[in-house]
Amino acid sequence: MQISPSILSADFANLERELDRIGNADWAHVDVMDAHFVPNLTLGLPVVEALQKVSPIPLDCHLMIEDPDRWAPSYAEAGAGSVTFHVEAAQDPVRLARALRSAGARAAMALKPGTPFAPYEDLLPELDMVLVMTVEPGFGGQSFMADQMPKVTQVREAVRRHGGEVWIQVDGGVSASTIEQCAEAGADVFVAGSAVYGADDAAAAVDRLRELARS
Ligand code: DX5
Ligand code: ZN
Repeated sequence: MQISPSILSADFANLERELDRIGNADWAHVDVMDAHFVPNLTLGLPVVEALQKVSPIPLDCHLMIEDPDRWAPSYAEAGAGSVTFHVEAAQDPVRLARALRSAGARAAMALKPGTPFAPYEDLLPELDMVLVMTVEPGFGGQSFMADQMPKVTQVREAVRRHGGEVWIQVDGGVSASTIEQCAEAGADVFVAGSAVYGADDAAAAVDRLRELARS
C-alpha cells in the first residue's frame, strides 16, 4: 500500500519545502497538464527536472498531455521513477511503454472515467501500473467517483490472470473517507492531493491514509 501525494494542491511558490512535508510518502505525484488534453495548465519538464534534483522521494509523473509518444520519454530520462501516459492520447502505447522502461522508469497507463479497461488488457505485460482515474482529470479537489470501483476490480482480476507485478493506482478525491473502498476494490497506490496538502500536518495525513488502506 503506497501513498503518492499530489503536489497539485501544494504551494507552487515553495515546492522544495512542500516535498519535505511529505518525506514519509512513497512517491510524489506530479500532475503535468498542457491545456489541451485537459482544460488546465500546470508545469512541465523544466520543473520536473528541478524537482528531481531536490526530491527526497521518487517522482510519479502523471502526464495529462496530448502526444505523450513524443513527450513522455523525456520525463523518464529526467529521472522520474514512474511515468504515466493517458491511453486516450497515446498513438502507440506498446512502443511508448517500452521507451519509458528502457529509459529506466516504471511505465504506467491511465484511464479516464469514461474509458473502459477491456480493450487495453493486452497491454498489461508492457506495464508496471494502471491508473484508474476517480475524477475527470484536470483539477484537484473534485468529488470521488465511486462508480469507478468496478473498473479497479476488473483491472485487479486481469492482473491476477496475467501474473506479473502491476500496481493499480487511483487518483482523484482519495481521502480518509474514500481510501478504504479503493483498497477493497483492489487498488494499491493512492494519489491524494487536497487530503494531504490541505492538512496542517501533511506527513500525519500520509500515515493515516496508509493505515486506512491497510486496514
Ligand atoms: C487531477 C489530478 C489529481 C489531483 C488529485 O486531474 O490528476 O492528481 O491532484 O487531487 P485531489 O486528491 O484533491 O482530488
Ligand atoms: Zn494525477
